[in-house]
Amino acid sequence: MGDARSRSVGIQQDCVMMRQILQKIIPPAMIFLLFVAVALISNGASGFFYGDVTNRVVTVSNYVVQILAVLSGLYLLIRLINVLVWDNLVTQALGTPIPRLIKDLSAILICLIGITIIVGVVFEQPVTGIWATSGAFGVVIGFALRSLILDTFTGLAINVDNSYKIGDWVHVHSRNRVDYIGCILEINWRTTRLKTTDNNVIIIPNSLIGQSIVTNFSSPSDISRFELCFCFDADLPSERVIRVLLAGVKGAVSPSGIEEHPEPTVRINRVTDAGIEYRIRYWIYPAKLSPPKARHAVISSVQRNLRTAGISLARPKQDINLTQRPARPLNTDILDDRVALLSSIDLFHHIETEALQALASNIKQVAFKSLDKVVAEGDKGDSMFIVIEGLLDVYVRNDADGKDIKVGHITSGQFFGEMALLTGKPRSATVVASTDVVGYEITHHCMQDLFRAYPEVLEAISKVLAERQLLKCCSKSRHQLVNY
Ligand code: CMP
Repeated sequence: MGDARSRSVGIQQDCVMMRQILQKIIPPAMIFLLFVAVALISNGASGFFYGDVTNRVVTVSNYVVQILAVLSGLYLLIRLINVLVWDNLVTQALGTPIPRLIKDLSAILICLIGITIIVGVVFEQPVTGIWATSGAFGVVIGFALRSLILDTFTGLAINVDNSYKIGDWVHVHSRNRVDYIGCILEINWRTTRLKTTDNNVIIIPNSLIGQSIVTNFSSPSDISRFELCFCFDADLPSERVIRVLLAGVKGAVSPSGIEEHPEPTVRINRVTDAGIEYRIRYWIYPAKLSPPKARHAVISSVQRNLRTAGISLARPKQDINLTQRPARPLNTDILDDRVALLSSIDLFHHIETEALQALASNIKQVAFKSLDKVVAEGDKGDSMFIVIEGLLDVYVRNDADGKDIKVGHITSGQFFGEMALLTGKPRSATVVASTDVVGYEITHHCMQDLFRAYPEVLEAISKVLAERQLLKCCSKSRHQLVNY
């Protein structure tokens, strides 16, 4: 009973299809037959007429009728090929409808053949010119339909290339920054269709996908690695963050379908403005678990672990310092500014303002150019220097070979010349400006007053002196050893 009904439904469908085919074919067939009949009759009728004018009219009408007969034949042929070959035979064989482009191209080809027939048979003229013109015509058509043709050929190339196939999970890195991730549903002549996890179908023209970078998650094997990045404050110990993140990603393994092997990993990725970025890597079979679902599973598990551990993600930071800005840059020439500059130096940090003012009014500002020799080893001297801006190198002469050995350097905020000042001996080293330098020179007399009021300054200078002397000896011995 059911079989009989389905058979009758099938027969009905066939009848409908046949009716549609006939509806498409009968009109052009009638037109064609009409013109063929008229052509035959007019050929026969020409014998009844005499006279030049009448003959010419008949000849022209013969041509017209023959041309119309050929054209209507072409029309019929195009219809037949479209309906029977493209829409039925080829469509059924390929399983997808044939693109309009192919039908149009076949129609153009048939028209060209028809024009050749008209020129060759009706007008009895050579046909080579026609084919030459058709080449130029083809170029024009090709130019007009270039995007369609590009789509078609890219579709062909994709099929031949086999970079991805139906059922593969792909990530199309689009140029307009909207990326598409989905499973390939179909690659036809003109478009590639992706099915996303939100049950949408994205239709991408083949020419566009052909120019895009495509990550095929399903090739070379079905398993693929994915990664996610999280950023945390730099003061959080990295072992702690890694521990919590690893627990988070591994915790997503069994319920969601994230693969246990290869094992998920967590690594520090880079340092950013907000803090330290960590990268989680995990493996999935995109055919079994879609990448967005896997991402959801990992993020939610990580978030749960972070919340329990009391760790939050780094936020963009901006430091705001509420301090009074100096009204102008400090000037080494101005007394008050000198006091401010000296008080910022470690050696004079705890000295009271009055004492600093007295010191500031008795010191001399000095400036040296780069490579200037500020003090030379063996020279007499009873002053020391405070460096405000710049850098200097310190050298001692090696008695054995007479060469200068670099024993240290003096940066801004530091002092030099203290050895001669305290011991009264000649300068123990040569000090050369490595950059342009600005500083203050303080005399022995001036320092004596300060030492009396602040013996701790003398103590601090003596300590540095001892360290430097030790360093000098070590550098000399090392040099001698190396050159022994
Ligand atoms: P003075 O001997 O008066 O002259 C040379 C200066 O070089 C010396 O005081 C120290 O201030 C300085 N100097 C000597 N050795 C070192 C060192 N190793 N590091 C830095 N400075 C030094």
